[in-house]
Amino acid sequence: MPSTRERTPDNSARWATDPGALVYGLDLSRFADSDGDGFGDLPGAMARLEHVASLGVTWIWLLPFYPSERRDNGYDVDDHLAVDPRFGDLDDLREFLAKARDLGMRVLIDAVPHHTSDRHPWFLAACEDTDGRAGKFFVWSDDDSTEPGDHPMFPGEEESVWAFDERAGRYYHHQFYSFQPDINATDPDVFEEIVQLLTFWLGVGVDGFRIDAALLLVQGKGRPDTDVDDGVFFDRLRARLREIRPDVALIAEASEPPEAMAALIENDRFDAVIDFSLNNATFLALARERAQPIVDALSRLDQNIPADSRLNFMRNADELDLSLLSDEERREVFAAFAGDDDALIYGRGIRRGWAPMLQPAQRVRMTLSLLHALPGVPLLQAGQELGQGDDLAVEGRGAARTTMQWDDSDGGGFTAAAVSPLTLGAQVDGPFGFRTVNASAQEDDPGSLLSLARDLARVRREAHAAAAGWTTVEVEDRAVLALRRDGLLTLHNLSSREASAEIGAGRVALLADGWATGTLAPYGFAWLRTA
Ligand code: BGC
Repeated sequence: MPSTRERTPDNSARWATDPGALVYGLDLSRFADSDGDGFGDLPGAMARLEHVASLGVTWIWLLPFYPSERRDNGYDVDDHLAVDPRFGDLDDLREFLAKARDLGMRVLIDAVPHHTSDRHPWFLAACEDTDGRAGKFFVWSDDDSTEPGDHPMFPGEEESVWAFDERAGRYYHHQFYSFQPDINATDPDVFEEIVQLLTFWLGVGVDGFRIDAALLLVQGKGRPDTDVDDGVFFDRLRARLREIRPDVALIAEASEPPEAMAALIENDRFDAVIDFSLNNATFLALARERAQPIVDALSRLDQNIPADSRLNFMRNADELDLSLLSDEERREVFAAFAGDDDALIYGRGIRRGWAPMLQPAQRVRMTLSLLHALPGVPLLQAGQELGQGDDLAVEGRGAARTTMQWDDSDGGGFTAAAVSPLTLGAQVDGPFGFRTVNASAQEDDPGSLLSLARDLARVRREAHAAAAGWTTVEVEDRAVLALRRDGLLTLHNLSSREASAEIGAGRVALLADGWATGTLAPYGFAWLRTA
């Protein structure tokens, strides 16, 4: 589909060029524990990298592994330049990177330049001298009055974007938790520090970064002159990083409409954005059992962000954030998938995990296929390939953050510890727990979700199903999403009823579930090629 924004041709990270490019989000703390302390680590993850490669993964995204109290799952960084000793050390990381590379995967790490933790040396120094050089790293105020639109990201958990620090005798700005003071991106020393810390990790051997809260980093922070020009900031950042590593990959995380995200990929500033708008539209389409919301979202996206610069997900690592829908649309999705109020969060999202939320199992299968079929690069979070569950008894966003379920042994193969603080109660005895849902049981079962994930990757690779170049095809049955690229056609029935999909003769199914020529079973899908 034509795009109004063309990429510059020097996309040297070759971000989406591997046939069937696929990103896998991996939280080391929850993946595999090698030393029995109940906490995942680098050696544990290294021993499981073949599993990751078997899914067709081309990029691993490592969630924050820095020293941290982990009050915000590691996004409360105490030191940007080290590995939390619970995970291992820099040499372990180097080994992990080398093994990933040997298996054909590149590695992005989470970079969190938007804020630090309140224990970070930058903040401790700043509190001593808010007007001095250290103080300029953060945003200070003598009062806690808020500008319109400047509200905490976690309503209900935080009341204000300002917190008072006794040492400083002033308020500091925090968009997220009060233990995460916001960095002041306007300060030239701050820019230089960000360059230095990303340079450090490139030296260790990582291939790129997911920049956390990318737009918030450059946006104003509740006081005049606290915003910087995103183009200038990120162009300079990119240029500096390319001096070190010409093919560095930069991915932006921000939940904004496509028009706002477009600026991030202009001029090759970022290779891709993690796009929430198609995810929101997909849930609306699933709630309505109609393809139209996805068709509309794709056309809006295509006008703003080329498909190979978009990262798609069904369920990311936080809540299912539906803030890009209208209030009425969001209510429709809540009614269809939240179950009860306990599943809701921040007035904008759902805490449930993918598999329990989208039961029956056939709909989970269809949405896994859909994720691989949507124009853009798909992003899976570890465990989603198995259909792992959630635990609403756990507070907040932690409800859907599960440890990996490798087998049905005590600890689920994740840990040998008698108890892991990270394994959710429902993982031990719930219907989606490791006794029933685990990698080992699914390994040799051709009907398992894991086998489907591998089959989808194989088909995408073999059919050269690139991220870009897809067009939507009009079909009569409104429940069916049809997408075409070259000789490839994918069909997904979003509804719980049988759907018709007359597509003419002369096609062979590369992969199908619930497809008989011209008909899709409830939540059926098919990947077809011109004969
Ligand atoms: C992460 C969240 C985190 C927030 C603040 C987001 O991008 O996905 O888990 O709480 O940034 O760091």
